[in-house]
Amino acid sequence: MRACIRSTGSYLPARVVTNAELSKTVETSDEWIVQRTGIKQRHIAAEGELTSHMATAAARAALENGKLTPADIDAIVVATTTPDDTFPAVAVKVQAALGMTHGFAFDVQAVCSGFVYALTVANGMITSGQVRRVLVIGAEKMSSILDWNDRITCVLFGDGAGAAILEATEEEGRGILTTHLHSDGRHRDLLYTNGGVASTGKAGTIQMQGREVFKHAVEALAQVVDEALAATGYKPSDISLLVPHQANLRIIEGTAKKLDMPMDKVVVTLDRHGNTSAASIPLALHDAVSNGRVKRGYLLLLEAMGGGFTWGSLLVRW
Ligand SMILES: CC(C)(COP(=O)(O)OP(=O)(O)OC[C@H]1O[C@@H](n2cnc3c(N)ncnc32)[C@H](O)[C@@H]1OP(=O)(O)O)[C@@H](O)C(=O)NCCC(=O)NCCS
Repeated sequence: MRACIRSTGSYLPARVVTNAELSKTVETSDEWIVQRTGIKQRHIAAEGELTSHMATAAARAALENGKLTPADIDAIVVATTTPDDTFPAVAVKVQAALGMTHGFAFDVQAVCSGFVYALTVANGMITSGQVRRVLVIGAEKMSSILDWNDRITCVLFGDGAGAAILEATEEEGRGILTTHLHSDGRHRDLLYTNGGVASTGKAGTIQMQGREVFKHAVEALAQVVDEALAATGYKPSDISLLVPHQANLRIIEGTAKKLDMPMDKVVVTLDRHGNTSAASIPLALHDAVSNGRVKRGYLLLLEAMGGGFTWGSLLVRW
């Protein structure tokens, strides 16, 4: 038995903040941001708009696109680093908002790799026969942990949510073929928040050594991409579409180049969304699905790297 992706959905807050707008409050420019990152704009949640609200909207869209109701879902897994509250989990808030009292729901925290981690957890629960259908969501309100005076970080991130419904299938060849997760906690000082529940009692803001993170990202992503191919015996040319975490266009182009893959086989949304951490892959995936770029039988490679460091990859036959 395998787990396949039945449907996807997404949600983006209404407010769009352009690079030009940011350059009015911090010393930066559209030219610098586009050249170094590829980001042109990001969506920012409204006051009072929380991660669970965005997660629920994305979940509803995925349910509708899959012609399902909450009664058809056995479990909810939300990948997030920016939960509404310390507890309960965002996932149980989504469960309640959807009117579900059956099944179970929990959050996964692996920062920008969160969605690959959450899909891997859900895949394990399905292939072990524990559940048949899991609503997997990546949702973030990154704007809540940004120092809006720090030009190094505030230009990079955005808010949003994406969802995918994973379900058991016996169809030959379809579904998640392999997943590979890694972490290395020694690099904490390169990417972290300067606060938290048990340390300062405040969420803190993102602190980052950009150049160092960049170097690690390129190496880590090359490793997990190689692992996914080695585990399945596929060649880079077998991949129909690369759905990477959306942190920096230069990092994405580096991975595509390593795979000798033309950019028209790569899903890029960071120009419009910025880095939405755990929401970036499901947002990109839904963008590709809704634009008709994902066809039955396609081989998709998902990969991400983020704070922790955490990194991972996943190959799925659509
Ligand atoms: C952050 C990042 C875009 C910076 O690009 P970079 O080419 O490495 O730039 P540097 O950090 O070396 O900074 C170069 C200069 O630009 C300046 N700068 C930094 N942010 C700036 C901004 N928003 N606008 C204008 N100038 C900026 C720096 O202060 C530095 O100035 P200096 O040379 O006078 O010291 C890049 O390192 C990156 O994307 N790293 C990975 C980050 C990431 O993916 N994080 C999330 C992982 S999930």
